[in-house]
Amino acid sequence: MSLLQWKKDYAVGVDAVDHEHREMIELINGLYDNLMKADVEVSVAEFLGEVYAKIVAHFALEERIMRERGYDQFAEHKADHERLLDDIREIMDDYEIRGAFEEEALAERLTSWFGDHFKTMDSRLHKHLG
Ligand SMILES: [Fe+2]
Ligand SMILES: [Fe+2]
Repeated sequence: MSLLQWKKDYAVGVDAVDHEHREMIELINGLYDNLMKADVEVSVAEFLGEVYAKIVAHFALEERIMRERGYDQFAEHKADHERLLDDIREIMDDYEIRGAFEEEALAERLTSWFGDHFKTMDSRLHKHLG
């Protein structure tokens, strides 16, 4: 079972962006598959660290474009990115402190965040900048 599922309503209507988002979801699912495979040695901490890194890379790309193009809602958009990163760091800290990792909690968090953010912030961004 994949950790995350692409949903039709994730689409922002710009092919390159949808492709980039799909790719991020696939990368996260690939990392999760590795974590679940008994014959591959991946720790939960490594898995979470890599998921975090993939998302950071995507956000960095968007933020660079927004900065370069003088996007009017840069601050709000970046703040929303930060919110998700904070949530993931919280899950990572939790794992370190309690040794517990709830994959459902991570999946739920990412699914609802992607749903909201792609539909609102990212779709506005890409409509504005073309
Ligand atoms: Fe995005
Ligand atoms: Fe974004």
